[in-house]
Amino acid sequence: MKTSPKPAEPQAFHIPCDRRRFFRSMAIASAGFTLPGFLAEAVAATPIVTQGPYYPLADDIPLDKDNDLVQLDDRLTLANGVVTHITGRVLDANGNPVRNALVELWHADREGDYLYSAGSGRNAACDANFAGFGQFLTGSTGRFRFRTIKAGLYVGRTRHYHWGVTLPGRTTRSTSQTGWNEVAYGLTGAAWGTQNSNDNVFSTVPAAQRASLLLDFTAVPGTTTGEVQAEWDFVSGFTPTEPTYPGGGSLTVAGTPVAGPVGSDPRYRITVPAYAGYTYEIYGNPTLADLGWRALPFSLSATGSIDRHKHTATAEGALSFFVEDAAERGFYQVSYRVPGANTGTP
Ligand SMILES: [Fe+2]
Repeated sequence: MKTSPKPAEPQAFHIPCDRRRFFRSMAIASAGFTLPGFLAEAVAATPIVTQGPYYPLADDIPLDKDNDLVQLDDRLTLANGVVTHITGRVLDANGNPVRNALVELWHADREGDYLYSAGSGRNAACDANFAGFGQFLTGSTGRFRFRTIKAGLYVGRTRHYHWGVTLPGRTTRSTSQTGWNEVAYGLTGAAWGTQNSNDNVFSTVPAAQRASLLLDFTAVPGTTTGEVQAEWDFVSGFTPTEPTYPGGGSLTVAGTPVAGPVGSDPRYRITVPAYAGYTYEIYGNPTLADLGWRALPFSLSATGSIDRHKHTATAEGALSFFVEDAAERGFYQVSYRVPGANTGTP
């Protein structure tokens, strides 16, 4: 997919609707009223490609699993590699944007090491400052965005990203992979043994569809550090089904200070009425210094370790969470999602 040069933007994540995208979206919008064939291509479903063996296990995934894979937590040291922005949309088979689709991205670090570890905890060889995995829940426009690094190469594969997309109403992800239109060179500068043309995964995709997975990356205007960007739409063959009652949503809840573990700061107890099977996450309210809602890790007891970002209730009734972060204005946002929904970070 070729992307026209774009003007400099103050926000690195914001990529404007360019002329080509405009025409393409027009084609998609009118596809339902025209003869199939020519325009049907505009909404051809994204080829489904193997998930591969390195989707991270629960133990591997960092608490910080947002859509910025370059910076882990609040660290000053960023992941090694070429900073890379990917934006796009999740569309259904009719070309309509899909809201509440969970988009997951995972890939190797600059050296070709995944976060994945068959043992407990993340792979020690993986760049300690690289998140390795991120999620994004789409809004009404279906758009998603990620900041990550150029994926590293490992033996047997050309350069690639792994994607998982879960539509509302589905309990399993659809997986695909995207590559780079390039001759891949290893870190030593030598041409890599496996290129797009002889890669054993991309080779399984019919040639006519393969181009939709091999992206052109262009320099991000106005940056001096070699950042690149690409756009990619994921077109699902499934129809999303939004749950009706009680759908996902959020509650605004005040926190009550309680004693934490011996020798530590107090914690804040947040109690909500919970439903069995629903998944809950806690967000801190925005401040002047930080306008975004921030996912807060929590414990299920006043003195237990703060070790999770989400919890699926097993029974109906009052449920308490314990966080360490004081809410600037005294309240928290508790998001909840319906049973079976693959959960991410809004
Ligand atoms: Fe892979």
